[in-house]
Amino acid sequence: MTQHIETALIHAGVRDGFANKKGAVNVPMYLSSTFHQESIDEFGEYDYARSGNPTRDALEKAIAELEGGVRGHAFASGIAAVTATLMLLSQGDHIVITEDVYGGTYRFVTKVLPRFGITHTFVDFTDLAAIEAAITPATKLLFLETPSNPTLGITDIRGVVALAKQYNCLTFLDNTFMTPLHQRPLELGVDVVIHSATKFLSGHSDIIAGLTVTADEQLGNDLYFIQNSFGNILGVQDSFTLLQNMKTTDVRFSRSSESAQKIAEFLDADPLVEQVYYPGLASHPGYDIHHSQCTSSGAVLSFRLPTYEKAKALVEAMKIPVFAVSLGGVESILSYPAKMSHASMEPEERAKRGITEGLLRFSVGLEHVDDLIADFAQALVIAAKA
Ligand SMILES: Cc1ncc(COP(=O)(O)O)c(C=O)c1O
Repeated sequence: MTQHIETALIHAGVRDGFANKKGAVNVPMYLSSTFHQESIDEFGEYDYARSGNPTRDALEKAIAELEGGVRGHAFASGIAAVTATLMLLSQGDHIVITEDVYGGTYRFVTKVLPRFGITHTFVDFTDLAAIEAAITPATKLLFLETPSNPTLGITDIRGVVALAKQYNCLTFLDNTFMTPLHQRPLELGVDVVIHSATKFLSGHSDIIAGLTVTADEQLGNDLYFIQNSFGNILGVQDSFTLLQNMKTTDVRFSRSSESAQKIAEFLDADPLVEQVYYPGLASHPGYDIHHSQCTSSGAVLSFRLPTYEKAKALVEAMKIPVFAVSLGGVESILSYPAKMSHASMEPEERAKRGITEGLLRFSVGLEHVDDLIADFAQALVIAAKA
């Protein structure tokens, strides 16, 4: 029976195998670093918890099922998931990567990988011709993030996958902003999907976690080897929390996305706001492509005020959202990319990517949308005078 993803979100990983032999409706926490072996000749399914733990296993199976892949892996953070996938590369390899990638990914690609002889070219991934032009004989990977962070640029996933096949490259896609509920990259031909599960999948601003899913068994085994070699695993309690929280992804994310649409339209109509970046607005340059590959516009938007002073005044005047790093929580989160998610990027690189001093990002939570809009309305009046 083919089930809807909303149904899979509730049951994925829960009923299978050793993790839940006794029929508990929640996967138990196996707080055990090691496992007794019955025989000197033959070891059981689990031996040492860095290499495998039933609770983490259930989570890894769940995300693999939700993304429609064959193997899932759970890491200590989203950036740990990103860096583990990049460790699949070898000395001499070259990456073509979206230029408005998450700041931590940018830092790893620019500051760490070159020390191991892995080079990169940043490209505007809304431009397929530019991606093709950047591919060299050494290129092994096209790295996508769509919608991108923080300016919500949209990449044509099918177009990039076609290029990757033509030039014999892998494709990795950071799916943090959409979750498997609304964007399923493996079905479009991507090789590895990555999540900062800290965000919408956990959804309560409680844990730091990363997930990956591979489309094929060999890549899954290779990534397992990296995970085990680096010891970069998600702990048991956090695996449990994430499994629990993932079940409500649909109700949380869908409600937040509906509110995001209304807020984006409200901000778009305000004269102080120079630009709203949200793929639910028909004026967004990636609107058609986004809606050909996703089933929602998402719950994150960014908007640009004319100056730093006005952005500061708005931040100080807003009463409901928390002002913080991160996104994807039940509480709305207002953030300032230049000093938060993209602080590790050089100022000139930020400027090139439209991360100006007046740019703010808003992750829409589960507060009543009318209250959020009223909060913006009063704060914009104050910001206009700053
Ligand atoms: C798109 C994206 N990818 C990866 C990460 C890194 O995730 P984590 O903070 O869980 O390490 C983030 C964090 O903000 C992100 O927004």
